[in-house]
Amino acid sequence: MKRILGFRRRSTRLLLSLLCMAAVPCVAQQTNIAGANAPIVLTGADRRPAMSLDGDWASILDPYFSGLFSFHHQEKTNGWFLNRKAQPEDPFPTEYDFSKAPQLTVPGDWNTQRESLLFYEGPMWYERDFEYRPKEPARVFLHVGAANYRSWFWINGVKVCEHEGGFTAFNCDVTSALKAGPNFVVAAIDNTRREDNVPTLETDWWNYGGLTRHVSLIAVPEAFIDQYDVHLARTGDEVEGWTHITGGQAGTSVEVEIPELQAKTQVAADNNGRASFHFPIHEVVRWSPENPKLYKVTLRAGSDSIEDLIGFRTIETRGTEILLNGKPMFLRGISIHAEAPYRTGRAYSDKDAETLLGWAKELGCNFVRLAHYPHDETMLRAADRIGLLVWSENPVYWALQFDNPKVLAKAEQQLDEEIGALRNHASIIFWSMANETPNNEARTQFIETLASRARSLDPSRLITAALLVRANGHSKIVDDPLGKALDVIGVNEYIGWYEGHPETADVTQWNIAYDKPLIVSEFGGGAKAGLHGDENQRWTEEYQASIYRHQLPMLNRIPQLRGMSPWILMDFRSPNRVLAGIQDEFNRKGLISDQGTKKMAFYVLQRAYKEQSVGKPD
Ligand code: GCU
Repeated sequence: MKRILGFRRRSTRLLLSLLCMAAVPCVAQQTNIAGANAPIVLTGADRRPAMSLDGDWASILDPYFSGLFSFHHQEKTNGWFLNRKAQPEDPFPTEYDFSKAPQLTVPGDWNTQRESLLFYEGPMWYERDFEYRPKEPARVFLHVGAANYRSWFWINGVKVCEHEGGFTAFNCDVTSALKAGPNFVVAAIDNTRREDNVPTLETDWWNYGGLTRHVSLIAVPEAFIDQYDVHLARTGDEVEGWTHITGGQAGTSVEVEIPELQAKTQVAADNNGRASFHFPIHEVVRWSPENPKLYKVTLRAGSDSIEDLIGFRTIETRGTEILLNGKPMFLRGISIHAEAPYRTGRAYSDKDAETLLGWAKELGCNFVRLAHYPHDETMLRAADRIGLLVWSENPVYWALQFDNPKVLAKAEQQLDEEIGALRNHASIIFWSMANETPNNEARTQFIETLASRARSLDPSRLITAALLVRANGHSKIVDDPLGKALDVIGVNEYIGWYEGHPETADVTQWNIAYDKPLIVSEFGGGAKAGLHGDENQRWTEEYQASIYRHQLPMLNRIPQLRGMSPWILMDFRSPNRVLAGIQDEFNRKGLISDQGTKKMAFYVLQRAYKEQSVGKPD
């Protein structure tokens, strides 16, 4: 039966394509549509007036991606992006109907919205109708906060862009596809893991799929500021930066103003639309975790203007010191995944950010490592406001195909998007290039390339990465050659959990090949909240607390230790963690459970941070 069916289906498809050839140009020759519009990066997108497209979208699961690819795996021109309604006279069936499809809420991963989707990895279609009332001639962008992992977008059946990478914002020009009145947007999102992806096949976090962050329409004038950079010069007495205008004339006047500081400048854009500036400021209140002062900054160019809230601080190293506003500091930190507290799933909201960063503040932190990918801009806005320094990371995680130039291009694109969108957040002091990558030549070259790209994109911040550590008996050796390319060395170690017992830390020596500041970017162990027992019994809160009690004095013996971000603030979902009754698909190394229960180790670390008994006191 199946075979005959298969044949019948194939012949129908053949018939269909012949028919649609007649009706609408079909498959192969239209592939160039695929690369129609590359999305752009917008700095301060969340500061622009926007028409939100958040809410309930129709959704259709499409594991074989037959909505986009034909039975010969060619991209269709009459795919589900047409949002076609079957007509009684149709000479062929229309085998999808968004108006009858179940809904998914945007923003949000699909995995935690329906039990049947928890483990789903593959293509998913989204459709939403909306009214558009153009106010004045403008360019309109579809702003996508993030779509994991590969995504395609159409407006009224016209392809507007495609994108790869699950954790960075992108903007698709939809000006020519939009019309006044009723419109519809269709998106196909595929979170299938592939070897040449960034990240690649293996991750220790849930591969939440979907439109995981805010989606909106942003209208800007024909000539507009797409990217800008405003920061305090390391001299501390000047604001410096630049703006980039798209669609503008050379010589376009650009104005930057900080009203509260009575500071202002006017410069002209060059042939490439770029306008650099630097101007003196007086009595600026420096941004710091203790005093997270933000200033309103207005940028104007032609008929475009944008107002941002920016903190002014300097960050640099001197020998093994990290200097914030010229003063040596110690980073009392914690690592955080973008896992939503209580409801679980991909975090995206102000509330998620307030809860997670509120707990970090309660712990006594002045620093957070946002792992292992760029987090939602709401998180950075909250860190700017609350006063927490940030380690932001590109998802170059574990063993990518480091010898594959295409993979490097993907990592570079994601880095451009991360830095382009997030560059004006005073809270961010580190761009982290990678986490726990294998020590080989291809890897080192790959990340050195990324590091120099990050330096040229943003010379005002520090470059780091989380390295693996070699062991020789009870000696820990930090000599990964990648360290040469970094300003600050991050190291991950799991003494007391993956290796040895908590007391092993008492006899561990550290041998660090670099005369640079060192951050222990991960250490810790698992505990099931509420499970109590002897401190030598794994998975109990007592065992986890014991790891922390033995770690802190060990870390204090490392001369160039300048910070730490233990793994991790809150339990998070991971497909690797399957110990029934304990893990149940959660990594349990949190100091707080996903339901907000603080474990004993939370208080061990809180006390050390409050007493400033680890690291150099402020
Ligand atoms: C690694 C890795 C994390 C992971 C953690 C763990 O070091 O960087 O992503 O979750 O260890 O094993 O819990």
